[in-house]
Parts: sequence; structure tokens; C-alpha cells
Amino acid sequence: MLTIKSPGRVNLIGEHTDYTLGYVMPAAINLYIILEGRPSTVVRLQSSVLGQVAEFDLNNLTRSGDWGDYIKGIYYVLAKRGLRAGGIEGVVSGNLPAGAGLGSSASLELAMLYFLNQAYSLKLSRIEMALVAKEAENEFVGVPCGILDQFSVSMGMRGHAIFLDTETLKYEYVPIPSDAAVIVFFTGVKREVGRTGYVERRRVVEEGLRMLGVRSSKYLSSEDLAKLPAVHRRYLSYVVRENERVIKVRDLLKSGDVAAVGEVLVEAHEDLAVNYRVSCPELDFIVHEAVRLGAYGARLTGAGFGGSAVILASKSRAEAIAEEVLSEYVRKFPWSPKYFIVEASDGVSIAQ
Ligand code: GLA
Repeated sequence: MLTIKSPGRVNLIGEHTDYTLGYVMPAAINLYIILEGRPSTVVRLQSSVLGQVAEFDLNNLTRSGDWGDYIKGIYYVLAKRGLRAGGIEGVVSGNLPAGAGLGSSASLELAMLYFLNQAYSLKLSRIEMALVAKEAENEFVGVPCGILDQFSVSMGMRGHAIFLDTETLKYEYVPIPSDAAVIVFFTGVKREVGRTGYVERRRVVEEGLRMLGVRSSKYLSSEDLAKLPAVHRRYLSYVVRENERVIKVRDLLKSGDVAAVGEVLVEAHEDLAVNYRVSCPELDFIVHEAVRLGAYGARLTGAGFGGSAVILASKSRAEAIAEEVLSEYVRKFPWSPKYFIVEASDGVSIAQ
């Protein structure tokens, strides 16, 4: 029997940049999917969270439109790469909420891959596992995500954020100052990453890059941007500013200036809301309230349109701020929000 512990992720800065091969800076977080399983000739997984069973034959990998597709997708990509893995019988549980914009799909994919890597000696590195999981999501499940979530879940390091260049996959661990608390605030509005807003943004910025003949948003100049039609220019200008903010936040974190990091997060949220247009009233409200109550800063995290916000606050004030935002929020919106004061965690591993 193997027990795998797979974290969620929060993105501190670098939103909607990964599919243009720009910069991101996420951290794995200490909310986990737990996979307990044993090798088998079939696949049979019971989700104690969803109360559902995913069961299928390894010779029949057809999409079923449910969470089993994330598992099938992994087998599909492994087979494409000529890697043979057997089955699993087991249980999926944990405290990472699904659909909250905290990387639960990537967490499930990496839990499964880590299990298969161990049980069937596939010899995949952590970065290879992140790439397999992303490909499974893109090509089998049909979600056009970037590498952000899978890389965070696979490569996380306790106490650190990951500064990642999504073009080269070069990365650097950046310590999160110990007096800073990271709050993840789930709006209660579930979002589907495959929804039209995400797909549409991605289509436009990819088209813009193609028009300019540039591979990554990192290489865009203001002269390039000026050549684009208005909507392409608007979205790609956001991406260029966001790439710059990732570098700025990396440097500010290194110098321990969390208050200045907070200001950049708020600026990023404004830009996401006004120019990239992926926010919603719930996320704007959380950011506004958190700042009013004395947080260093806050912004939406993940794809937006619902999901979660990330709030950066001093450790001594974090709980009071989160509680106050929560009580104001439920007065205004009919959803069931939830917050977590999280720690940056190691990537997927065997549970001790
Ligand atoms: C989702 C996707 C990521 C990334 C973010 C936006 O979380 O899965 O790849 O694009 O949205 O930054």
C-alpha cells in the first residue's frame, strides 16, 4: 500500500502569463489530496470527497466527462510516451477543495503520477511528471491550461515560492518571509477553467504572438505591442506588465519587503480586473476589504471569474482580517465562502 500526499497551489503573482510562456510565481500549499492505493490489473478509485468511483479498463481509455478523465489522461499520455504502467485500487481523500481555483485537478493528476512512478518504476523526474500531467489535461481532458498548476504541485518547496520561467522551465526558490501570512479566500463561486473566458483570452494572446512572430511574451517590446489590433494589444500589454511584476515581486520578497509586495499584488489585481477582465464582483470585494482592513495586499489567484483570492498579511493580523472579510462577504453575497491560512508546502510526496 502506498499513500501519496499531493498539495494544491496558490499563485502569488504571474496570472494568465503561463500560456504565453511568461513568468509565474506560485507556491504549493498545505491543503492536500491524499491517494492511498495498491497496484492492480484494473483501475478502481473511490473518491471519499465526491462519493464517486472511477473505474475503467486500461485497454479502453475513452473520455467519460467526469473526474476519472484526469486519471485516464495520465495513462493516455504515458502510453503515448511508450511508458507502461499497471492499474491501481485505492481511495482519494483530503482537504483540498475541488473547483476552488487551488489546483485540485493538477493535484489529483500528480498524486496519480507519483503513485505510478513509484509502483511501476517509471523513472520520471518531477519536471517530467509536471509535463505529463499538463499534456493529459490539454490533450485528453481538453482543458487548455498552461504549466503553472502542475509545476507548482510537483516542484513545491516548504516555505518558498517558485519563480518560474514557463518557456525554459528554469526556476528559482524564493523564501516567503516568516512574518508574512498567506490567506487563500475561496469565493464559493466554482469556476471551470475550460470556460469560455479563459479559452477566449488564450486564443487572443496566442493570435497576437503569432502576428508578431514572437514565441514568448517575455520578448515583447512596446513597439511590438503598438503594431497590434486594439484587443490583442490590450491583453498582451497586460501580460507584459504582469511579467514585469513577477520579477519585481521576486526581488522584493528576497529583500523581505512584504509591504511593497502587497502593493504590487493590488496593482496586479486592478490590471486583471480592468484590462484583462477576468475578475468578478466577489473577488473585487475581497481584495478591497482585505486592503481596507490592513492586509499588505490581495489579488485574485488562478484563472479568475470566481475561484479564490490570495491575501498577504502580517502573521499577527491574518486571522482577524480573514474573519472580518468573511463576515462582510456573507452579508453581501449568497455563496458559502471559506478561507485558509496556508503555508508553502513541499511538492507531491509519499505521506510519512
Ligand atoms: C489556471 C490554469 C493555469 C493558468 C491560470 C491563470 O489555473 O490552469 O495554467 O493559466 O489559470 O494564471
